[in-house]
Amino acid sequence: AVLILLGPPGAGKGTQARMLQDRFGLVQLSTGDLLRAAVAAGTPAGKQAKAVMDAGDLVSDEIVIAILNDRMAEEDCRNGVILDGFPRTTVQAKALDDLLASTGQRINAAISLKVDDSAMVDRISGRSTCSGCGEGYHDTFKPPLADGSCAKCGCTELTRRADDRAETVASRLEAYHAQTAPLISYYDEAGVLTSINAMADIDKVASEMSSVVQSVI
Ligand code: AP5
Ligand code: ZN
Repeated sequence: AVLILLGPPGAGKGTQARMLQDRFGLVQLSTGDLLRAAVAAGTPAGKQAKAVMDAGDLVSDEIVIAILNDRMAEEDCRNGVILDGFPRTTVQAKALDDLLASTGQRINAAISLKVDDSAMVDRISGRSTCSGCGEGYHDTFKPPLADGSCAKCGCTELTRRADDRAETVASRLEAYHAQTAPLISYYDEAGVLTSINAMADIDKVASEMSSVVQSVI
């Protein structure tokens, strides 16, 4: 199965993708995570992507599509993937259609997470991520254990992302509205779109997501 999660920064794509991965045995594939790994490893693509990401703009289609294609070709992706943060432009959506056509796969659902822009700064500025297992946390909405460690793996090192500053969040939202939001009608026309109210709490959103996924895979 191929699922796409669409939504602005902070909508909860990563949070929900990780839960669906555990529940349905699908692989979460986040182009943001892949790009951050490329930046950390200092690859040529990572070197190009870093400044763009720090400014809150979109990395070039060419780089992102190459990274996505490489990852999709790996063995563990054969049973199904949850695309978290890809596609983000019409060019990327078409490249995904071509890739899936060439491997005999199809998109089961594109799930649009609907949130108010005004909630995004709070969500993003309170976010942290476990260095040990990648679990995501929020200072208020999903706090780690009382001693500050990860509830899943016990790791004590929780980090904050370089692009999670208020100024950068504004650029990321702008990029979303200009370049990614048009994909909502792209997938609506393709007959695979479902929208979910992602202003609800994490568990409520998760149970709605699970029903959608169950009905399409
Ligand atoms: P990326 O890593 O994809 O970031 P993003 O889209 O900005 O999304 P986020 O990871 O910020 O948010 P999320 O929706 O996953 O929310 P989360 O679950 O963490 O991209 C980063 C950059 O990489 C881009 O700016 C771009 O430069 C580049 N890039 C990546 N993909 C690209 C592509 N395809 N093309 C071009 N460039 C690309 O939740 C946020 C917080 O809120 C957490 O703390 C969480 O605990 C909390 N939370 C979640 N749900 C709820 C809820 N229902 N109620 C309350 N709190 C909640
Ligand atoms: Zn952890």
